[in-house]
Amino acid sequence: MKTIVYKISETDETVWLKAAGGVLAAGGLVGIPTETVYGLAANALDAEAAAKIYAAKGRPSDNPLIVHISDISMLDGLVTEIPGTAQKLAETFWPGPLTMIFPKKDVVPYGTTGGLDTVAVRMPSHPVARKLIGTTGIVLAAPSANTSGRPSPTRAEHVYEDLNGKIDMILDDGPVGIGIESTVVDMTGSVPMILRPGYITREMMEAVVGEVRVDPAILGENRDKNFQPKAPGMKYKHYAPKGDLTLVSGPDEKVVKKIRELASEKLAAGFRVGIIATEETKALYETVVQGNSKPVVMSIGTRKDEDTIIHNLFDVLRRMDGEEVSYIYSESFEEGSRGKAIMNRMLKAAGHQQIYV
Ligand code: TXA
Ligand code: MG
Repeated sequence: MKTIVYKISETDETVWLKAAGGVLAAGGLVGIPTETVYGLAANALDAEAAAKIYAAKGRPSDNPLIVHISDISMLDGLVTEIPGTAQKLAETFWPGPLTMIFPKKDVVPYGTTGGLDTVAVRMPSHPVARKLIGTTGIVLAAPSANTSGRPSPTRAEHVYEDLNGKIDMILDDGPVGIGIESTVVDMTGSVPMILRPGYITREMMEAVVGEVRVDPAILGENRDKNFQPKAPGMKYKHYAPKGDLTLVSGPDEKVVKKIRELASEKLAAGFRVGIIATEETKALYETVVQGNSKPVVMSIGTRKDEDTIIHNLFDVLRRMDGEEVSYIYSESFEEGSRGKAIMNRMLKAAGHQQIYV
């Protein structure tokens, strides 16, 4: 299959809308920008179209898809019950990076929900996603547009890298705004429960609806095998770069010292090494040398602004792949209000290899 790429900035809106709308109406797949990450979109109410998403991504069939809407009126058609708390969260955070889970109506096929009786719904704020859904009237099932297990795509180039030849079209609107996926919250119980941490924090939601819980299985980062996460996607290996990633946590000075040591050891043994640093620390690693070899040092952003770290996270992991490093050492980012969301992705990328100093 030939994957057609439209650059939004260089294409008439009527042209890309007609082309992408045509693909979706015919049951095909389109990579689309959203404000969180790029999504791989298909008609959510067409089980055959949804099946193509799983095939293109190599996604396990029990991992349900998020259904994207462009207007609150579309929610009624998909779910049997909208609790008052969900209404309030929607009024406050939609359009935006919040996904809510509801009991599904029969029109939503099990092929979209991974066999579950619930459906995850999100109203993205990205103008391209909204325009496409609004104009076609097609609600879009869209997981992140990466090959299953790889870092989520924050640029159209990432989608192309993973899915060229496997999907019909990509709408390229440059890098996304946020850079990590939406917060997923289950609204089917008496108290909302966060199943995946994201850009909308627990505190932000509690300010609107009172108590919000967090799935115990993700709090302990799955170390206890008796806790199965409620979002099926949270149990899979995810975001992994090709190099062996280890996170180092502790006071800044000790972390820098430890990473310098670890990097030196691997360089001395003849391996290519990557270091994920910050604007504040990158210079401290650039002086590591063993014979003729130095580590590849990348800054993920500045500790003065957590959003920069979120924005660059997946791109840095993918660029490390490009450098063909065998070992990667990274600083940790627990502190900020979105530390849980960041560390959730980084720990998965590291297969939970973490050193405390
Ligand atoms: O920001 C995002 O949410 C992006 C953009 C494209 O919208 N999408 C995204 O989709 O991250 P995906 O498929 O990569 O992640 C969806 C997560 C998975 O962990 C999945 O298991 C969970 O949501 N999920 C979806 N439907 C669910 C349901 N009915 N019950 C429990 N978990 C569900
Ligand atoms: Mg994903």
